[in-house]
Amino acid sequence: MPVNAARRALAQETAYAVEVSDLRKTYRTRKGRFQAVGGLDLKVPVGGVHGFLGPNGSGKTTTIRMMLGLITADSGAIRIFDAEIPGALPQVIGRVGAIVEQPKFFPAFSGRRNLELLATGIGAPARRVGEVLDEVGLTGRDRDRFRTYSLGMKQRLAIAATLLKDPDLLIFDEPTNGLDPAGIHEIRATMRGLADRGKTVLVSSHILNEVQQVADTVSIIGRGRLLAEGEVGEILAGARVGGPSVRVLVADPARAAAVLAPAGFTAHPLPEGRLEVRRADDQPGFDPAQITWLLAQQGLYVAELVPVRADLESVFLDLTAEEHLGASRTAPPPPLPPAPGPARAAREELR
Ligand SMILES: Nc1ncnc2c1ncn2[C@@H]1O[C@H](COP(=O)(O)OP(=O)(O)O)[C@@H](O)[C@H]1O
Ligand SMILES: [Mg+2]
Repeated sequence: MPVNAARRALAQETAYAVEVSDLRKTYRTRKGRFQAVGGLDLKVPVGGVHGFLGPNGSGKTTTIRMMLGLITADSGAIRIFDAEIPGALPQVIGRVGAIVEQPKFFPAFSGRRNLELLATGIGAPARRVGEVLDEVGLTGRDRDRFRTYSLGMKQRLAIAATLLKDPDLLIFDEPTNGLDPAGIHEIRATMRGLADRGKTVLVSSHILNEVQQVADTVSIIGRGRLLAEGEVGEILAGARVGGPSVRVLVADPARAAAVLAPAGFTAHPLPEGRLEVRRADDQPGFDPAQITWLLAQQGLYVAELVPVRADLESVFLDLTAEEHLGASRTAPPPPLPPAPGPARAAREELR
């Protein structure tokens, strides 16, 4: 994609908006020490939307709080626009807008009035209020009381508040949490709009597929470490182990598999009589039309043929599958307790 190519070129010329290396943070709790971030590396290119993805508890909020100087790291380095955090934070904080916790607005005041108060507080020019309301698409509802807003509108007002000082980098920690699909769509569109106007948006989410549609690049983390990074398309393409495949529905899947094998296709049975068909490892090219043709030749008519699309959620599961295997190897399940009744008697007999 030319837009992405241009962004990449830009990112290579300029520094990263955010660069994190070998970041670590251990919390001390009553139960002992807990490592929330364990050697995290992160690169957020300048311009575009960057998804910072990982399941609940993987260390996203902890990382963001360290970026904003709200908590201190145990070790590692954070740079925002080339400034060392937290030392040089005062120099760059004016270029950063963030939503980490739900901001407090006055429910009885309008969205506009709330922003006017905030603008006065941070010394932003009054004309910015109208501009930012426009940017998040709240013009028209800006004079309604905050408490009448939908969750999506409330969240967009929070985004508007971060825009008052016209920052270059926006950091949103799970901005779509608790929103309905319409609200999620609004926030996605708002983030896209910001990126298209040259801002860098760093957005965290534990719903990996939700961000897939809006992010130009992503970092996927698990247990405080980076698991994958890059353009969404590249990650998805790389994840398709064994190349592209299609899901095929035919009346006789077993015979279909037998027909496809000599032509260089491998077919794996799926539930409900479907087959997942891909090119055998040593075979070049993949043409789904060839599959329908081969099967039709044998009187097997394809009722359905769907390309299999990997999503970020499945990439994540793939990436952590080995980890889970490893965990079960090092910690075998505890032995079963002796079964009561006849089963135990049977075992006694075997001795
Ligand atoms: N203040 C804290 N004290 C102790 N443990 C914490 C604290 N904050 C977060 N944690 C733990 O650190 C881990 C990472 O949390 P967090 O950064 O909030 O993850 P995420 O934002 O990805 O859901 C979690 O297991 C969480 O329970
Ligand atoms: Mg969080």
